[in-house]
Amino acid sequence: MNQYQQVCENLKTAPKTWLVTGVAGFIGSNLLETLLKLNQTVVGLDNFATGHQHNLDEVQSLVTAEQWAKFRFIEGDICKFEDCQKACVGVDYVLHEAALGSVPRSIADPITTNDTNISGFLNMLTAARDAHVSSFTYAASSSTYGDHPGLPKVEENIGNPLSPYAVTKYVNELYAEVFARAYGFKAIGLRYFNVFGKRQDPNGAYAAVIPKWTAAMIAGDDVFINGDGETSRDFCFIDNTVQANILAATTQNEEAKNQVYNVAVGDRTTLNDLFNAIKTALNENGVVYTKAPIYREFREGDVRHSQASIEKSKSLLGYLPIYKINPGIRLAINWYISRSE
Ligand SMILES: NC(=O)c1ccc[n+]([C@@H]2O[C@H](COP(=O)([O-])OP(=O)(O)OC[C@H]3O[C@@H](n4cnc5c(N)ncnc54)[C@H](O)[C@@H]3O)[C@@H](O)[C@H]2O)c1
Repeated sequence: MNQYQQVCENLKTAPKTWLVTGVAGFIGSNLLETLLKLNQTVVGLDNFATGHQHNLDEVQSLVTAEQWAKFRFIEGDICKFEDCQKACVGVDYVLHEAALGSVPRSIADPITTNDTNISGFLNMLTAARDAHVSSFTYAASSSTYGDHPGLPKVEENIGNPLSPYAVTKYVNELYAEVFARAYGFKAIGLRYFNVFGKRQDPNGAYAAVIPKWTAAMIAGDDVFINGDGETSRDFCFIDNTVQANILAATTQNEEAKNQVYNVAVGDRTTLNDLFNAIKTALNENGVVYTKAPIYREFREGDVRHSQASIEKSKSLLGYLPIYKINPGIRLAINWYISRSE
């Protein structure tokens, strides 16, 4: 049994109360599903800014009535301190996912992104500290590496941020560090690298590349590649991300706290290869896409290459990503196809 399996067994034996912010979103709803399946009690906070009731409904359909009864939803806003306080009552572990994602969104509207991602984050950190929760794990981002050219990315070597979004995620890390120093409240930041999987929203101007392309191919629409297609990313299937959160929240290793970690697979896939991987996986499921991609301008604020070193999360958290990109893509695609039927 590996460390993660052991932690899951322990949680089933001694269930805890978790707060998942952003619970109606992609990552939040996947955390909710896993935690309920482990018979945990979960409080969820969301204001539906980018999340959806249908994500919560889908989780309900995937767990037992008894498990669902252990979920309490608070419709609220992390920008309101009272909502954060209310959500933290009686909580053991906080998984803070609520934020406004997307580099282009932050370039179009830096003020709203700043309010949610910095003021909202500070509200949650303060409310969690005041409630004496056992751990606080938050969604950081690979965008914090900014213009640092080094590959693979190692946690201590970051560059200049390339977007307002990247600034907000870096400020989260600074606040977390200051809370450890000033109050002894030790959080853990997980720098996610392009997470993908079921319930990632394919709609809207700020959709991520995998859901956007998959939905376009299923509909027979054009697929646009920003730049020459040789931009690369370390795409990480959602189950790996869920694993990292549960390991971080429950770690008993003092050395592992007040740290940031890369959460990825440690591989690099170009957009051209991604296009072909999605097309092939769809083809295997009877969805034939014949159009060539349309290349257009590089996107402002985008990092050219991204690939993580996952040595730190492996050694301090016991993180062991199970899904590489292609098996993950197949699972994700099955979900998008079933949803389109
Ligand atoms: N998906 C990725 O590849 C990725 C990569 C790096 C970091 N992240 C971070 O992971 C977290 C989750 O991202 P996601 O992909 O699930 O995005 P998502 O948009 O699907 O989920 C975010 C959730 O937060 C909620 N939310 C936003 N503002 C809120 C507010 N003021 N109060 C309460 N709830 C609010 C939204 O309604 C949504 O349900 C975010 O912090 C994001 O920045 C994601």
